[in-house]
Parts: sequence; structure tokens; C-alpha cells
Amino acid sequence: MSNIGSYDERIKNFDWNIAEKELDYEPGNPINIGWYCSDRICEKGFGNKPALIWEGSAGNEKRYTYNDLRLNSNAVGQFLRDLGIRPEERVCLFMDKIPELYIGFLGILKMGGIAQPLFSAFGDESLFVRLDNAQTTAIITQKKHAPKVRKIMDKMPYLKHMIIVDADPSKPLADREVAFDMEQAEKPEKFTIHPTYAESPSVLHYTSGTTGQPKGVKHVHYSLISQYLTSKWVLDLQESDIYWCTADPGWVTGTSYGIIGAFSNGVTQCVLDAGFSADNWYRFIEKHKITMWYSAPTAIRSLMKAGDEVIKKYDLSSLRHLASVGEPLNSEAVIWSEKVFGKPFLDTYWQTETGSMMITNFPGMKIKPGSMGKPFPGITATVIDSETFEPFGEPGKIGLIAIKPGWPSMMRTYWRNEETYQKKFKNGWYLPGDRSSIDKEGYFWFVGRDDDVINTGGHLVSPFEVESALLEHPAVAESAVVAKPDFVNMEVVKAFVTLKPGFVGSKDLDLEIMNFVRKKLSPLAMPQEIEFIDSLPKTRSGKIMRRILHAKEWGEEIGDTSTLEND
Ligand code: WT7
Repeated sequence: MSNIGSYDERIKNFDWNIAEKELDYEPGNPINIGWYCSDRICEKGFGNKPALIWEGSAGNEKRYTYNDLRLNSNAVGQFLRDLGIRPEERVCLFMDKIPELYIGFLGILKMGGIAQPLFSAFGDESLFVRLDNAQTTAIITQKKHAPKVRKIMDKMPYLKHMIIVDADPSKPLADREVAFDMEQAEKPEKFTIHPTYAESPSVLHYTSGTTGQPKGVKHVHYSLISQYLTSKWVLDLQESDIYWCTADPGWVTGTSYGIIGAFSNGVTQCVLDAGFSADNWYRFIEKHKITMWYSAPTAIRSLMKAGDEVIKKYDLSSLRHLASVGEPLNSEAVIWSEKVFGKPFLDTYWQTETGSMMITNFPGMKIKPGSMGKPFPGITATVIDSETFEPFGEPGKIGLIAIKPGWPSMMRTYWRNEETYQKKFKNGWYLPGDRSSIDKEGYFWFVGRDDDVINTGGHLVSPFEVESALLEHPAVAESAVVAKPDFVNMEVVKAFVTLKPGFVGSKDLDLEIMNFVRKKLSPLAMPQEIEFIDSLPKTRSGKIMRRILHAKEWGEEIGDTSTLEND
């Protein structure tokens, strides 16, 4: 029997206090995610249960029980407090998927800090704009990533501490640098959790938009209510589950479901900190007897590409439930997974700003491959006309996804950017910025984004950020960045570039520019293709028309070009 039971029954008389009661949370009392994910599970009698089973790229393994999670996060919290870091200061986690990342996240929350996870593959420029916006006080990192921080240290007077979790004891550390060895650290049995409340800030995740710098999505401790219940009802987490969330906590899936949802439900979760290969993933499932697997369409398509033969080498019979998020999950992938694993991947739709799943397929519900499913109980979602902002009276029409504000894990603002936050609301609806239709039975069918943001392998990349980076290259005069279709990643970054006088397009220059962007931003943001052209299509007012270049890449009609300058 699944946790949700009947979807139709659950949506009648739904109230978020179902989760509050299960968590023994009384409105008005303190609520702290770090405490709920470690201490509370121990208090419930599961202190000796494995919480985190971690495997590194060399196959090495580390195991932590819930009691280990509690003690180690106490150690992190105490260390930060002793450094003088105060509640609500931003503490950045800039690490690979190592245990210190997961436990550090809980430790920051326990001492009342705001956890700011950033993807460890980010280059110095991507890192700088996010730390600068957040005015981050401390960054926890590994020695291999420290040089990227050192490069920008002088520009960040507010960054008081760089904490290195694997510092070499024989090497002296520079000013503002400090070593913290979690294994060796004293682990206080008693740690006074900072009394955070429902509206106290908890996590700051950065997400990219079409224009401007990345936006810091501010979440609060009350988000736990949504993250706990969606994990229970959609991921169907049960006491005996061995759960694997493949996402990196540098992104929201890796925190909402790779940390908070998993640990607040008290399951055992496995983490694989290694590059992707079909063999390695199937081996990992077999070895740890994974029962619940939450992944992303790009990974699923890569597995499809690796073929069905490799699957036969492994015993994957432990799998009982699969789900996916991040980009459209095509019907072929759902049908394929049913064929090879005996169960479909259930698509779930949400975003950094929503903090938890909004529209999803549920265990036990009829699955329509290619559909995102239906709103989670308590979520009022529909599709509205993009001009009147009114819901359509009939099914089948394509419009903007619109959600009634007020669920527990909704973002509270964009950090130091309230104006952009306010723009996300129209006519009493929150607009995630996506287009969809709804069929007669209430199932949502994703159509596309309503902006120029590129979704590559489930990661949002801002064309503006890539264009800005390109302009810093000495050869580049102008650039326009659009999505290009790709079988595995759905979309990849493509750049159109005009060169400054004296430069000519060549294979070498192409590679040089690609690398330049990779280092500054990240491998995700690096253009997979650069096309040198003589001039970019622009409006009469001089704005580059990405739309035309995009249409060309996707073989679509170009549409109205009446405002085009060089037509
Ligand atoms: C954007 C959010 C939520 C965790 C990962 C991404 C797209 C997300 C789906 C889906 C089609 C999806 C949307 C959304 N997206 N899930 N199931 N089907 N598109 O979080 O980086 O904030 O990206 O990803 O465009 O707005 P994010």
C-alpha cells in the first residue's frame, strides 16, 4: 500500500496540518530543519539506523547513522558558532557530494545560519556573483576548489572565513582561511539549537533568469512541511526504503529531496559521488539494494542510450518506485523504464522557487506517459491566458502555469531583489514561467518555458550570463546565446558570435572561447557550439533577437520580424 492511498480522497479536505501533526509541530513553536532531520529521528528511536551511505569515485565508502548525523552536525554548528558566525548569516557550501556537504547543511541550519549551496563545478565568476549578492560570511569548501575562491577573495571583504574540510595539516593557511576536519572534530553531545521559527530563513538557492544576475531564492524553515509530506506521498518513502536521489545539493532537488525530505522521513539514503556511467549506476543500485530512485530525464535518456543489454548484467529487482524531475520527461522514457525496470518513472514538476513538488504523478494513479500529472493535494494549479491572466474555461488550451500562493515551501522573496519577486505574481496567481495545457481529466502536459532560459540536462542556464562571459573574451564583439536541441540533454548552449576586427573564426578560437566560458562559469554553461557570423539579427532599437536564432536552431517558423533592423 502506498503512503498516499487514494489521491481523490486526499485532495478532499486536505490541510497542511496533516504534516504538522505527524511532525509534532505546533504553530508558533520553534521549527528547525536541522533538528528535524537528525535529533528528532534519534528521539524517535532510530539513532542507530543508517542515515547516509556514501560512495566515492574510487569505490570507497563512508556510513553515518542518524546518531552520527546528529553528532557531526552538532560539531559543524559548534564550529561555526565559535568562529563568530551569527544566525541568518549566509554560509556557502561549495563542495562535491561529500558527507561534509550533507552534514554541513544540517549544521548550518542548527546554528541558525542560512545555507547557501553552490554547485562545485562553478567557476570563479559564477561563484562571485552569487556570493556577492548574498554578502556571504563564510564558505565551506575542499582544497581542490579553494583556488577558485582565493582568486576572488580580494573582491569580497564581507567573506570572513574560508573553511577547508580536507586541509593539508603540513601547509600553512592564508589569512581568513581555517581548517575543519569533521572526523577529528569534537562532537558535542549537547548543542543548543538556535530557536528558528516558521518564517526564519533557512536556505538560499540561486537560479538563473533570462535577464540580470542569478536570483537568490529565499526559503524558510517552514518549508519542511511541504518537503516532508511530498517525500512521503510522492516519493512514497517508507521505513524500510533505501533511497537514492541522484541530484547534487548545489541544486534544489539535492536539498529539498536529497537532504530534507529524506532525513525528515528517517530513511536510509545512498549518495554516489562519481561521474555518470550506466554500468556504475546499475552496479550502485544492485550493491545497495536501492528501492526508491529519484532522478532526471537527462540521466534516464543517457541510460536508454547505453542500451538494454547492460541492464541484464545486474540484479535491479530491489527497485520498487521511480520518479523524475527537472525537464520534460518524454513518453518514450516512461515506456522504456516500464519495459526494463518493470515500473514507470513518475514525472514530477516544480522549481527552485516552489521548494517542493507542485504537479506530479502519484503512486497508484493512472499514468499517462508524457504528462506531468496533477497538482499535489493543497496546491491549486491551473493554466491561464497569457494576456488576461484568467483561467481557461475549457481543457486543452495552452497557457501559463499558475499556482495559488501560500503553500509552506514557497520562496519568500528573491534575495535583495523584491521587485523581481513581485513580478512573478499576476492576478493573484504565482507564475513559475512555464507553459502547459490541461486535459479533460485534469492532467498537465508541459509545453515549454515562457522565457529564453536554457534548460540543459535539468539545469537552468541564463543566456545573459553566458553572453556576458563571452563579451569578456578579447576576440568577441557581440554574442547571442540560445538553446540547441540535443537528444540526451534536451537542450545545450549554442552561441552566435561576431568577432572584433583582426580576428578570424577558426577551430582553435572556437575551443579557446568554449574553455574561457567553462572556466568562468561552469561546464554546463559552456557553449557546445559556437557559430561565427557577420552580424546578429537585431530590432530597430538595437536589441538582439534571440528568438530568430532560436527558431533557426529548432527548424521553426520565424514569425513576426517586422521590428527587425537588418531584414
Ligand atoms: C524549471 C525549474 C525542480 C528541480 C529541478 C529544476 C523545468 C522542472 C519539470 C518537468 C518539464 C520541468 C521548468 C521549471 N522543469 N521539472 N517535470 N517537466 N519541465 O529546478 O532549476 O528551478 O528549474 O525546470 O521549466 O520551471 P529549477
